[in-house]
Amino acid sequence: MAGKKLGFDTLKVRAGYDSSEHNYAVAVPIYQTASYDLGSVERGEKLFGMEEAGYLYTRIGNPTVSVLEQRLAALDHGSGAVAVASGMAAVTYALLNLAEGGGRIVTTPQLYGGTFDAIKHLFPKFGIHVDFVEDSDDPESFRQAIGPDTKAVLIESISNPNATVLDIEAIAAVAHDNGLPLVVDNTFGTPYLFDSFAHGADIIIYSATKAIGGHGTTIGGVIVENGEFDWSNGKFPHFEQPQYLLREQSTGRERSILEVFPEAPFTTRARLSYLAYFGASLSPFDAFLLLQGIETLSERITKQISNALRIVDYLQNNDKVSWVSHPAAEGNPYKALAEKYFPKGASSIFSFGFKGNEEQLKAFLNAVELFSYHANVGDARSLIINSPKTTHGELNAEEQALAGISPETIRLSIGLEDAEDLIDDLEQAFAKAFVGTLV
Ligand SMILES: Cc1ncc(COP(=O)(O)O)c(C=O)c1O
Repeated sequence: MAGKKLGFDTLKVRAGYDSSEHNYAVAVPIYQTASYDLGSVERGEKLFGMEEAGYLYTRIGNPTVSVLEQRLAALDHGSGAVAVASGMAAVTYALLNLAEGGGRIVTTPQLYGGTFDAIKHLFPKFGIHVDFVEDSDDPESFRQAIGPDTKAVLIESISNPNATVLDIEAIAAVAHDNGLPLVVDNTFGTPYLFDSFAHGADIIIYSATKAIGGHGTTIGGVIVENGEFDWSNGKFPHFEQPQYLLREQSTGRERSILEVFPEAPFTTRARLSYLAYFGASLSPFDAFLLLQGIETLSERITKQISNALRIVDYLQNNDKVSWVSHPAAEGNPYKALAEKYFPKGASSIFSFGFKGNEEQLKAFLNAVELFSYHANVGDARSLIINSPKTTHGELNAEEQALAGISPETIRLSIGLEDAEDLIDDLEQAFAKAFVGTLV
């Protein structure tokens, strides 16, 4: 099979793992070790001098975690990946790796609440500032927000919670015109639904906690790169700076990350700087659980999308619902973009407007029996949540309005149950919420 381009479903169960390197174990073994024998003083010198590839300490690298990294890099056709302990660690390390030392990030307000809050309120305390575009649907608005200190453009492939889709290629072109990388948080898209690099992304971020793990068991995050961005364009001197850590052992000459790791400079730098010293490393056991999830990624997502379409249909014909925000919903403004970027379907996570008062909304959420009321998405089980008070509760009213989140928003993440049962559950919950009232 050498030289054959393997398909997604083959890669998702095979990529990054060669059993002959692991005692012929068929399943990926869990290397539950903090550290590794150096073997000899000579080998230790080579490992620490980065002359020989190998494992030193699990904070920086672990064989089980490496399989996860290589598998995601393969699924996205990337050149390198680094796994970390959460999606937020992936967001943070990626953005610090770009904008450290006072850079700015251009982004849209339509982001996961934690990302929004972190970059708006926490990052400035570390000298990194954010510029929100005025109109996320207009790629030119991104151009207007870019300034001399901008280091990256950040978007989500499908936004949380309203499943909006931006014109990703046009935004990538604006970023590239300005010598900037496009960072795509593809958590909702997953590598199965959205081919980020083919549409102009330079860096991909995942909260692996969601559909990648897929079973609500594990917190994790991954950063993937394709090794094609020109980090020597003058905007990223930290990639060009010679470092003592990367010195040539024979001569002592200091070298830059670009010189030593030209194939994957971004994720290697994230590993050697941020993972090594800020330390949010993924445990080998959690990497194993995430790998188990990836093995069924496309099967799960396909069923979840078909379930989601049934529920979109049910909701948009329901007089207790004021709107449904999913690209497949009637009149949705993102339909054409979703068809272009998400040919297999645009997510099983979306929102709808509850047509009732606050008490009725509470009664509705308390009445669901199959849907789990909790803050996660991409689980095998269907989930429901009132985003304005929970996942996006950090945003004040003005910020929520900017992010397109109105008080009546309810987010659904559709799982693998029978669609009829899910619809029956919503139906009985609506009936309980509106008992004795006429809508
Ligand atoms: C789009 C997106 N990015 C990042 C995160 C953060 O991920 P984690 O919860 O794994 O830290 C989330 C979490 O909900 C998310 O939805």
